Amino acid sequence: MDAVKVGLLGLGTVGGGTATVLIRNADEIKARLGRGIEICHVAGLDIASQTIVDPATTKLTEDAFEVVNDPEVEIVVELIGGYTLAKDLVMKAIENGKHVVTANKALIATHGPEIMKAATEQGVSVCYEAAVAGGIPIIKAMREGLAANKIQWIAGIINGTGNFILTEMRDKGRDFADVLREAQELGYAEADPTFDVEGIDAAHKLTILASLAFGIELQFEKTYTEGISKITTEDVNHAEELGYRIKHLGITRKTDKGIELRVHPTLIPEKRLIANVDGVMNAVLVQGDAVGPTLYYGAGAGAEPTASAVVADIIDTVRTIDAPLHHKVPLLGFQSNAMRDTPVLPIEDVETAYYLRMEAEDKPGVLAEVSETFAKHSISIEAVLQKEPASGESSVHLIMLTQKCVESSVNHAIKVVEGLDSVKGEVVRIRMEHLD
Ligand code: HSE
Repeated sequence: MDAVKVGLLGLGTVGGGTATVLIRNADEIKARLGRGIEICHVAGLDIASQTIVDPATTKLTEDAFEVVNDPEVEIVVELIGGYTLAKDLVMKAIENGKHVVTANKALIATHGPEIMKAATEQGVSVCYEAAVAGGIPIIKAMREGLAANKIQWIAGIINGTGNFILTEMRDKGRDFADVLREAQELGYAEADPTFDVEGIDAAHKLTILASLAFGIELQFEKTYTEGISKITTEDVNHAEELGYRIKHLGITRKTDKGIELRVHPTLIPEKRLIANVDGVMNAVLVQGDAVGPTLYYGAGAGAEPTASAVVADIIDTVRTIDAPLHHKVPLLGFQSNAMRDTPVLPIEDVETAYYLRMEAEDKPGVLAEVSETFAKHSISIEAVLQKEPASGESSVHLIMLTQKCVESSVNHAIKVVEGLDSVKGEVVRIRMEHLD
């Protein structure tokens, strides 16, 4: 059989990695697929100076529309990222009847419904394995391997840059900005690194996972998003003392009231496997009603790990390239006429446990006053840690772990505690999950 012809949009970190893997592993891929994959046309910035593909056999351009309009190209691989240009290119490729592979989580999370509708009408596929957790085949696991299950919840470390920063801060006491710079140099961080540290990138990925898990539409705008930029070494150390680690988690859970969809720093027991996922590695813990907990681990960013997922999508696309869409796995794992309108819960309605830290006067009755306030709001305290005042200071640090309670109750209780004469400044609050 003739080689299938692909067009690559972007030859940066992921595009370069994808071309490298396709060329280096061409024999292995052909042996698995039964036909070769030819990089037929590539668009990239400063394309004349690239050294990865052979200009004698591959057309090169700086105009990505030349690739999506090239009649020879059967599969368009979008690796430029961003929303606007990427969306226009993907929509044009679909209009031209080409299958699409993309690593673009922002694009899928925000424009996915429109893209998938157009793809369904055209009878072409849109694959996005690399959009979530880099090299981990989590989309395939969710859509196929776990298809028998009712998914109950997912908790994932789904941003490599954030995990790298938290790990280096904890293990080496390194400065936030210094670690972020290294993540950028290594090609892990987004073009705008606030996407990593403020949780937007993780929220894009969680939006996709929730849709695959529960058969709901992609609803990025309803995902509660809180970053790691306010996490201090002090809280990292107190958490360790109490037997927890702080991880930046994406959590989605189906409850009787609706679906939780939230990204925030989270204390998790240090004995959980996922608490020990460090550096740029990602991990996704999925709880299914039949299978129980399953954990998927691997590199969440970087050129070749991400390319591994992109190339797997190209291979999958080629395997069923001539099949009608109803013979393929549905784009979001559920049949489009079986999607559900289960509501996404506002963060105020979410139930979780909390780590609370406050500075209080070191005098009798303060602890009782604070505990009483929480009790009045039906919040049970599970553990209390009191740190002695530093020499010359009169206030202590009180750290409290609560049992599960509703976020709105905690908000009210914190406001009252912050108003007490014996408590100084703001109460630090980090959510806590036992993941059992
Ligand atoms: N910036 C992302 C991360 C890249 O750090 O995980 C992979 O999506």
